[in-house]
Amino acid sequence: MKLLNFIKNNLFIQNFFSSLFCLSHPFFENVLAKYSAIKKSMFMIYHDETRGSYLEFGVFTGNSFNFAMKINMKMEKLFDKKMDIEFVGFDSFSGFGEIKKEDENPTFKSQFFKVDEKKVLRNIKKNSNGQRYRLIKGFYKDTIKEKTPKDLDIEKSSIILIDCDLKDSTLLALNFCKSTFQEGTIIIFDDFNYFQGNELKGEYGAFEDFKKNNPGILFRRIFDYGYSGRAFIVSKIK
Ligand SMILES: C[S@@+](CC[C@H](N)C(=O)[O-])C[C@H]1O[C@@H](n2cnc3c(N)ncnc32)[C@H](O)[C@@H]1O
Repeated sequence: MKLLNFIKNNLFIQNFFSSLFCLSHPFFENVLAKYSAIKKSMFMIYHDETRGSYLEFGVFTGNSFNFAMKINMKMEKLFDKKMDIEFVGFDSFSGFGEIKKEDENPTFKSQFFKVDEKKVLRNIKKNSNGQRYRLIKGFYKDTIKEKTPKDLDIEKSSIILIDCDLKDSTLLALNFCKSTFQEGTIIIFDDFNYFQGNELKGEYGAFEDFKKNNPGILFRRIFDYGYSGRAFIVSKIK
């Protein structure tokens, strides 16, 4: 109470702290939260020994992909075991391609996601430290739509990071991953709550459609993170 009275009578304190917090860049906060989500998920799969590939849909500059490889090395040491994870990333490295009407959004613009691919690939190689990784380059309609994980030598998944923003891309990713799911697979959606809360749109809408079409796969929500992220674990496959 004393503290509250003090704050009430000294408004400069709230001015100071709110100005200080404004200095922290939202992008930076969000990236740290994404790192933390990947770290938590990695800890959980080591803890429960959920073996399988790390699949990432939406690699862009390789920020989260590189982090996943880095934190894997830490977990190997921490748990003193090798899970022999292969890291597989899917991206066109030139944006979304054609965007459907329902996926239009003022911030998700294709041209922004065009990257200097050679530079990104060099940096991923540097960060891999000899770990197994693959990048499947191209638009999902060409790389995964008509394919199965087996076609790409992928068996089970341990962690799936869905960071491809749009409903269309997310649905292609989830349908592709279906046969890799096992009890314990963790699915992280980085952009779960965008599209003004519209339940038919974005990653949320895609996940709802996927669940409706696959009632035999049960998911349990495990945590929320950052500005728009939510993670689930496959809790049962009937
Ligand atoms: C938000 S960025 C990924 C950010 C990245 N995970 C990071 O942490 O830096 C989204 C990426 O998804 C890719 N993407 C989305 N839909 C795609 C599609 N249908 N085919 C190929 N790439 C796609 C874009 O090219 C873009 O690089």
